Amino acid sequence: MSTVPWSAIVLAAGKGTRMKSQHPKVLFEVLGKPLVSWSVDAVRDAGADDVVVVVGHGRDAVASVLRERHGNLCRTVVQEEQRGTGHAVQVALPAVSNAEVVVVCGDTPRLSAAALRALVAARRASQAPVAMWVSTVDTPKGYGRIVRDDGGQGGIARIVEEKDADDAVRAITEVNPGVYCFDRAFLVAALPRLSSNNAAGELYLTDVVALCRADGAQVADTTVDFETTVGINDRQQLAEAEAWAGAHRRRTLREAGVTVDGETPRIDADVVVDEDVVIGAQVSLRGKTHLHRGVKVDVGCVITDCDFGEDVVVHPYSVCDQARVQARAIVGPFARLRPAADVGEGAHVGNFVELKKTTLGAGSKANHLAYLGDAVIGSGVNVGAGTITCNYDGIGKHQTTLDDGVFIGSNSTLVAPVRVHEGAYVAAGSVITDEVPADAIAFGRARQTNKADAATPLRARHQARKAKTSST
Ligand code: UD1
Ligand code: CA
Repeated sequence: MSTVPWSAIVLAAGKGTRMKSQHPKVLFEVLGKPLVSWSVDAVRDAGADDVVVVVGHGRDAVASVLRERHGNLCRTVVQEEQRGTGHAVQVALPAVSNAEVVVVCGDTPRLSAAALRALVAARRASQAPVAMWVSTVDTPKGYGRIVRDDGGQGGIARIVEEKDADDAVRAITEVNPGVYCFDRAFLVAALPRLSSNNAAGELYLTDVVALCRADGAQVADTTVDFETTVGINDRQQLAEAEAWAGAHRRRTLREAGVTVDGETPRIDADVVVDEDVVIGAQVSLRGKTHLHRGVKVDVGCVITDCDFGEDVVVHPYSVCDQARVQARAIVGPFARLRPAADVGEGAHVGNFVELKKTTLGAGSKANHLAYLGDAVIGSGVNVGAGTITCNYDGIGKHQTTLDDGVFIGSNSTLVAPVRVHEGAYVAAGSVITDEVPADAIAFGRARQTNKADAATPLRARHQARKAKTSST
């Protein structure tokens, strides 16, 4: 493939009326990635070195998502008033840097990079001013129809929008998927010749095809699978694209050596999954999550923006958000890791344990029913069932520090700020308000007293009272 650079224009200014939403259509997501980003990524994967996105409706929101996701790899131009696809390209053209430009829509998440490369190659081979995708479909409703010479057998003569078509043209099943490759100089000359004298009163980009023919030139085409071209106009189509993309993602991961249980796991576009990972049913992997080699995430877990080291095991129904879990640690079932939880190598976080902004050192264990917030916990620490860090006093958050080898007895309350030094014990049921020195045992509870033989007279009194109430 030639290395001559080419540009891409992504059309994303339209309103997306059929979404019935306050939000711009191109920001709706498929596998956690906005529609417009699927288009930008597809043209970049295909080799575009310069991408211009035409924004209009919801421009600030769209531009900020583009900046966040693509940085300086794409630029935006504003189309103040949406006067049609031809007008949108006209607005973008001055910002385009190469002599060749591919135009795609911002609402087509299934665009294939390989098919885009084939389109560029087809135009280069033919030297035509225009090359376009074409596709045949049983129900062509809503698409521009391809009208060919010689009773439909020859070259492409023009594209007719459905709104402007008569019955004979509407019956044509070869449609325009809306993806083109242009010689830029041709567009510069052709776009000012477009007219809005049509059913929509818009400047149709599709009319440049007839202008190309009027100039005596040909239009090249590449046939693509209709499935990969579908645009998203409403929420039903969005759901269908999500289902397709999800299935494609699962299949691709399996090919890469990942076990994915059935068709229920959802793995977002930006998630990285290494070899020999096992993903259970109903698992949701979101955001920028990275699962390293050998990780097992069992049924029903929801994992967002997390990094799990090699051979980590996450048992069912754990919910983890912005957490790091280091190699061979075990989490769950029913664990909750909140932002800035950092579970050390080989550590255990068991059922109904919540960690927030807390480091749990290597080999440390919090196996049952605990809340650990704003804590720095060393290695080899045991946190007993029912332990709570009281990190919040109603105004500020305070830190709890448990040094290496500390043992916290069950049902302890650690009132922060507080520190338990290396090797110390905290007796079960303690309320710890003061620093505990190294190797000490802290008792923070009332001493137990036993009254000898006191149960016998108590029981007698109870029985007498019971007899009295039942006789009356
Ligand atoms: C367009 C094509 C049609 C093709 C179909 C494929 C035209 C005239 N028709 O129709 O032949 O079959 O796509 O999906 O091009 N946009 C702007 N600014 C505008 C108008 C549109 O940026 O002023 C953007 C929209 O946001 C959208 C894209 O261009 O992403 C396509 O516009 P849309 O109105 O959806 O065109 P279709 O009617 O689908
Ligand atoms: Ca459309």
